Amino acid sequence: MAKNVVIIGTQWGDEGKGKVVDWLTDTARGVVRFQGGHNAGHTLVIGERRQVLRLIPSGILRTDIHCYIGSGVVVSPTALLQEIDELETAGVPVRGRLHLSEAATLLLPCHVALDQARERRRGAGAIGTTGRGIGPAYEDRAARRGLRVADLLDPAHFRARLDELLELHNFTLQHFLQAPPLDVQQVADEALALGERIGPMLADVPAMLAAAMKRGEPLLFEGAQGALLDIDHGTYPFVTSSNCLAGAASAGAGVGPQALHSVLGIVKAYTTRVGAGPFPTELHDETGRHLANVGKEFGSVTGRARRCGWFDAPALARSIQLNGVNGLVVTKLDVLDGLPTVRLCTAYRRGGETLDILPFGAEAVAACEPVYEDMPGWSESTVGVREWSALPVNARRYLERIAELAGVPVDLVSTGPERDETIVLRHPFH
Ligand code: GDP
Ligand code: IMO
Ligand code: MG
Repeated sequence: MAKNVVIIGTQWGDEGKGKVVDWLTDTARGVVRFQGGHNAGHTLVIGERRQVLRLIPSGILRTDIHCYIGSGVVVSPTALLQEIDELETAGVPVRGRLHLSEAATLLLPCHVALDQARERRRGAGAIGTTGRGIGPAYEDRAARRGLRVADLLDPAHFRARLDELLELHNFTLQHFLQAPPLDVQQVADEALALGERIGPMLADVPAMLAAAMKRGEPLLFEGAQGALLDIDHGTYPFVTSSNCLAGAASAGAGVGPQALHSVLGIVKAYTTRVGAGPFPTELHDETGRHLANVGKEFGSVTGRARRCGWFDAPALARSIQLNGVNGLVVTKLDVLDGLPTVRLCTAYRRGGETLDILPFGAEAVAACEPVYEDMPGWSESTVGVREWSALPVNARRYLERIAELAGVPVDLVSTGPERDETIVLRHPFH
């Protein structure tokens, strides 16, 4: 039986999941998104070309790969079609290879308006969401008043459901959030027009995945966000509105948990976070700015500067526990080149106690002080290195220490944004 691999972020997102998924599509035959929406921004760099994918799985650039969007994803028709148009204009055939679950929840303009108006209202206490409407769309799903992708196929039914939905949301927008209401007719017309283009891509994704597995095609499940942004286990309330753990791949795609054979945890050689919320190893100094500049740490969706800090072992320990990580991919090692000292947070101090794992919730995490271990850095460039033996000895020691602290082997090391800027220690599919 072919092997399926789940790829998840072990930090607060932007670990380099897109690059790793794209790299692994040399073996995989299909890539599945199972949660999140266009809050994700997964960057692929192939030669001169830089492609940011938001909703479409990061397998799309290889034309022999099938891409699936599962029912756990919240889908903005506008964002989806914009992305398809961008890709097709650039010569990448998408339609025919992209299969969208008819049971996926629709993300509509009212969700965007609610997200943004609420963030404004929160003022200094804002979460720093991507402003894409993700939270409100998931709320409607949980409240069982959401519209689903399949509803686009029946205009009269769609309109009736939308009337009900906007009755509620327009009331909130106008009378609670002091924001302008949306025009039902306009929202319906736009969504239904886009729906005509989306219709042919609708599919019974669980059935397609079952058939692909039966044919022996290896699948990749592509997580968005990261474990510490998980709605249940992350730094709540500074989290996203979905489960972004490996286990969510089963429910969000519609496959049994036994179809998830192995979990690959992506971890940056340091840590970043976009938006608000606690971040124990955050740096506010020259080194932090160095990591941001060398690592080009600006959000691929919103362009916001990412906060940067040292590697955090207790945070990784929590992620490994929550996801059942079989192997790690350490990305952006090259960004640490030239630093005289590299620091690793090995534990937290909170009050009189020492913690070796990230606690739950924002307040508990905010009370954690990092305990650091220093290691000598390396002056040589690791950019584009493809062999373990070609890495500077101190870089190897740093990676070995990460694996030791994690208790999980490093399968791959990424030394640059390009596909082949990768060191393979153990191929995740073999
Ligand atoms: P994702 O959301 O997890 O897919 O990550 P993003 O694409 O948002 O952010 C990762 C950024 O780092 C992207 O711009 C990648 O092109 C880039 N990147 C990925 N791996 C490496 C690496 O090993 N070295 C460097 N310098 N950049 C990398
Ligand atoms: P990828 O898949 C980094 C963060 C936002 C905010 C919080 C909630 O590229 O790793 P939301 O819009 O989801 O309600 O925002 O989550 N966030 C991400 N941070 N990478 C992402 O995705 C993110 N998706 C959401 O910045 O703090
Ligand atoms: Mg990203």
